[in-house]
Amino acid sequence: MCSRTLFLCRHYSSQAKSVAYYTTPIYYVNANPHIGHLYSSLIADASQRWHNVANKGCIIKFSTGTDEHGSKIQQAAETNNSSPPDYCSNISKRYKALAERFNIACTDFIRTTEETHKNTVQNFWNVLNKNGHIYSSTYSGWYCVSDESFLTDSQLKETVGADGRKIMVSSESGHPVEWTEEPNYMFKLHSFREELIYWLTRDEKIIRPKKFQKILLDLICNGDLPDVSISRPSSRVHWGIRVPGDDAQTVYVWLDALVNYLTVAGYSLDPSEFQKVWPPDVQVIGKDILKFHGVYWPAFLMAANLEPPRSILCHSHWTVDGEKMSKSKNNVVCPFDRSGVYTSDGLRYFLLREGVAHSDGNYSDTKVIRILNSELADTLGNLLSRCCGAALNPDQTVPRMEVEALESVAALDVTKRLIESVEKLPDVCRGHYEDFNFYRVADSIISTLHSANLFFETLKPWELKKNPQTSKELDVVLHLTMETLRVAAILLQPIIPNISGDLLDKINVEKHQRHFEDVKDFSWTNREFKERKLGLEKIVLFKRILSDGDKRAKANK
Ligand code: ME8
Ligand code: MG
Repeated sequence: MCSRTLFLCRHYSSQAKSVAYYTTPIYYVNANPHIGHLYSSLIADASQRWHNVANKGCIIKFSTGTDEHGSKIQQAAETNNSSPPDYCSNISKRYKALAERFNIACTDFIRTTEETHKNTVQNFWNVLNKNGHIYSSTYSGWYCVSDESFLTDSQLKETVGADGRKIMVSSESGHPVEWTEEPNYMFKLHSFREELIYWLTRDEKIIRPKKFQKILLDLICNGDLPDVSISRPSSRVHWGIRVPGDDAQTVYVWLDALVNYLTVAGYSLDPSEFQKVWPPDVQVIGKDILKFHGVYWPAFLMAANLEPPRSILCHSHWTVDGEKMSKSKNNVVCPFDRSGVYTSDGLRYFLLREGVAHSDGNYSDTKVIRILNSELADTLGNLLSRCCGAALNPDQTVPRMEVEALESVAALDVTKRLIESVEKLPDVCRGHYEDFNFYRVADSIISTLHSANLFFETLKPWELKKNPQTSKELDVVLHLTMETLRVAAILLQPIIPNISGDLLDKINVEKHQRHFEDVKDFSWTNREFKERKLGLEKIVLFKRILSDGDKRAKANK
């Protein structure tokens, strides 16, 4: 191996780690959480929950949190007549409440104003400095406060402000920029060009979907990859972490923010613990912060001789009725409000079922109601209720089925199609989960549940119930339907943990038997199958949502 290749390879161990590490972005505390923030957290949560379903007994670290420094926050606090620490604590709590409300099962919630984080940022700075990647200079350029970023000429456009005067704005975000000239510390980004290209191309799965890998490669290969400014004068940005050894400068908020992933992993605490966690396995981000995570972040890590993340999962944005969500348009969708109507699992289901990573998704309440009623209430919920009704199932069991009875029912096409669909489902879902295509997981499961509904209706168990001679066939119908529900619920746990948990409790599947390795233990191949008692609690998995039209019709009756 030539020395250059050795140099490039030194960061990449393919060693298995004892802890799997998943992250969400840390959210700015300058505004309240909306469904966009929730969406990133849901993707990360569903992914780590899948990891747990697929790897029984694994250990997972899963972090989320809030990004609390910088001029944007400093200004937001001022606007709200609040001190920065009070302001940050107040909004940070809402992000924490969001995670709790939606069962984002994080092991760590980090705030960048915590002492451990400050120490980690300063330690990390010292390492970059010791390794010769930092120099001081005077920086001048167009600075965008909203985006916390200096912009190049090609990222700007001229427009007319509210007062009729010409102003410069960021062509990407539309936010105003101001000409700034100041002493700064710079990071030698340009010297990582080759290593970045190597990292981005050595494995297809580093940046997903592929279109975002291409965007990054274009950025690195076509641009000249200018060095980045990594500090601000404390006189302008006082709300930040001080540069070690220079109180006149605060650390650039993006360097501060990215280091959160190191803080959580224990970079400054215990090297042996840190080794078990590092590098991150899956980092979920939105496309607006792709450059920071796909260029700056790996370069910072390389500069500190640390392995860059094993994969970055980038998703597109939610729009509302076709428009970007923004406070000025007053169309921000509040997850707390909506969860009151749709439940937390309902909103989880909609966002993961309707969102695709590669293009923007459109949020509409009409669509939410239609999908939740048809899929969660009718297709899934009703099927369980039908099997548990006292009329059909007076003993309240998942009954055993007898081989002869199964054989007669199994000869029917609807039965064959159902069994075939259930047997294929686990591997199909695993493939989609591994590609982070949650909408495909939901689609496949709903399709199998449609087969189960058709099977149920075709076999008319209510007729079988009337005739004592067909009681064995009735058992087969109930049994196969509930076995389908078991498989569906185990596979749906990462997406709708509450509903799946309720369903599995009702059909009495033990907690330790809810993993991928259990799912394929189909009852029809298990001769030892024992009848199970249904849980005592009467449950409605998902209550139909009344649209405004339904409510009016009801009132007029
Ligand atoms: O950028 N649709 O924080 P932020 C989908 N603090 N996702 C959306 C969205 C939308 N309309 N709007 C926001 C920051 N998001 C930095 C991150 S990380 C070290 C620092 C999601 O509060 C998406 O993941 O502006 C986006 O990347 C993130 O929220 C930005 O949140
Ligand atoms: Mg933002």
